[in-house]
Amino acid sequence: MTDSAAEIPIEGHPVLEVEHVTAGYGDTVVLRDVSLRVADASVVALLGPNGAGKTTLLRTAAGFIRATRGSIRFDGEDVTGAAAHVMARKGLCLLPEGRGIFPSLSVRDNLLLQSPKGEERASIERAVELFPILGTRIGQTAGSLSGGEQQMLALVRASVSNPKLVVVDEASLGLAPLVVDKIFDTLRQIVATGTSLLLVEQYVTRALDIADRVYLLNRGQIVFSGAADELEGEDVFERYLGIDVGS
Ligand SMILES: Nc1ncnc2c1ncn2[C@@H]1O[C@H](COP(=O)(O)OP(=O)(O)O)[C@@H](O)[C@H]1O
Ligand SMILES: [Mg+2]
Repeated sequence: MTDSAAEIPIEGHPVLEVEHVTAGYGDTVVLRDVSLRVADASVVALLGPNGAGKTTLLRTAAGFIRATRGSIRFDGEDVTGAAAHVMARKGLCLLPEGRGIFPSLSVRDNLLLQSPKGEERASIERAVELFPILGTRIGQTAGSLSGGEQQMLALVRASVSNPKLVVVDEASLGLAPLVVDKIFDTLRQIVATGTSLLLVEQYVTRALDIADRVYLLNRGQIVFSGAADELEGEDVFERYLGIDVGS
């Protein structure tokens, strides 16, 4: 067990370094002295019970919440206090819980909005190649897609912007198991392009399967970090999070 990512040997150049961060909402402190790193071209799973602060940590890394203590580096550059749109421009793409698509816009317009300037055509082609089903739905409003199709659209939007790091908050929430398989296939495709992934996921086994490293967060603190295969076959929540399960 370790309480600081600073002590963890990490392979490769880190794309994201969260160091001793404290953050929350107004006077409410949610994260306390949290450190986490994502190495280049790697997958990190962030696991923990409801209310642990996982979403808060993702939003802090993405610039939506300002850390009150500690620092954040992205691709080697100090970005502490940088706003979300700045982080997006630097190549951090957050897929929020609830998908972050525009339900009243067409599938095409959702993709165009995320596409780099001048690459609109190529972006749409890539999206349809990845998910042929989106091609058949291209003129439909995103809100009329099924839950699984909406999540695929969200993932494809993330990949067309060609980010350095995709941060995914509970992509599989509320989806049928077969659709969840498809979502994980897409995540693997995104990783195969060299993009790093920071993933919050309720399906622990699937998350450990795809992840290189894992962090367990409980009550706003990192209670475990290590290689994902160290946890494989363990009852993660019982062993490391004890009585807090489901609280
Ligand atoms: N907008 C907010 N204002 C105040 N407190 C919040 C807000 N969002 C979340 N919280 C609180 O922060 C804590 C962590 O929440 P969250 O980061 O959503 O946890 P998780 O994603 O692990 O379920 C919870 O106690 C939650 O009630
Ligand atoms: Mg959450």
